[in-house]
Amino acid sequence: MSDYDQLFQSALVEVDNAMDSELLEKTRVKFLGKNGLISIELKKISSLSPEEKKTLGKQLNEFKNILLKKINIKKKNLDNEEIEKKLLTEFSDPSMPCRDQSIITSKIHPITQTIEEVVSILGSMGLSYAEGPDIEDDFHNFTALNIPENHPARQMHDTFYIKSDEKKEENNVLRTHTSPVQIRTLLKKPPPIRIFAPGRTYRCDSDVTHTPMFHQVEGLIVEEKINFANLKWFLTKFCKIFFENDNLKLRFRPSFFPFTEPSAEVDINCSFKNGKINLGEGEKWMEILGCGMVHPNVYKFCDLDPKLLSGFAFGMGIERLAMLKYGMPDLRSFFENDLNWLKHYGFSFLDQPDLNWE
Ligand code: PHE
Repeated sequence: MSDYDQLFQSALVEVDNAMDSELLEKTRVKFLGKNGLISIELKKISSLSPEEKKTLGKQLNEFKNILLKKINIKKKNLDNEEIEKKLLTEFSDPSMPCRDQSIITSKIHPITQTIEEVVSILGSMGLSYAEGPDIEDDFHNFTALNIPENHPARQMHDTFYIKSDEKKEENNVLRTHTSPVQIRTLLKKPPPIRIFAPGRTYRCDSDVTHTPMFHQVEGLIVEEKINFANLKWFLTKFCKIFFENDNLKLRFRPSFFPFTEPSAEVDINCSFKNGKINLGEGEKWMEILGCGMVHPNVYKFCDLDPKLLSGFAFGMGIERLAMLKYGMPDLRSFFENDLNWLKHYGFSFLDQPDLNWE
């Protein structure tokens, strides 16, 4: 037995008995750490005779290497045992599909995208942004827009009424269109006025082409000597830029809105091939917006003189514009928060159309 046998034996037994990686690490430090039992013996070697140095040094170093190897093997085994134990106790389903990267990187909702496109075009055409509240009173949503009480147009709008406080006789409404922003703007400052107002609107209606909440954008230009030709030019220009199609034809079809006179609904030409709509070609027509010259009564309700002013207004449904431009078949899917739908129809920040008006 060499002088070190007892030390060697106790080291080997301790490694064998270490039950987990923490105890094993403690054993390693105890024998091979900076001040470990074997390290101390190794340090002592330098003070021995050359003969002893040779034999004892060799023994110590050989044993140190054997012990290190044993510790490493033991460590691997303990690690594997720990992983096995975790796999048995912690549940994980490796067959579960991972989250789709393109959804994680996020997409712009088509409504946001379309509003931004409309805002950038109307802004570049010289109109400023305006807004009004979603909860309106009867005066702004109806009366000042020349829709008197008992007028059939009030029924046409399928209004959501909200009880207002007891002092007020009239109920509030969720605005049925963005046209009340016309009134708010005319009341706020005298013309010239050139504004657009995108926002949420509400009607008590739900089917493939109607949702209780939807979006519109309103336009209003009021100054002196504005005529219907200006209106036609403006909307033709807007539609050609928005639909990115210079061949688009517009049809101004006589219509009725209480707050404009004359009034028109605007259709754009299209064709249908294999269930797909092609804009700017063919003989068919698709309605896209309502418009007209501001009715004299609207000026009067806003304390303005209709003899001195003229102007036009228009209103469009944002979802409708999006469906026609980007081909979504069902209006309701805009609001269902289906990630697969958004992945398909959503937009990337880097993928923006170039919508210059000049
Ligand atoms: N407010 C009308 C609607 O909701 C649209 C419109 C706006 C028509 C402005 C003419 C002028 O249908």
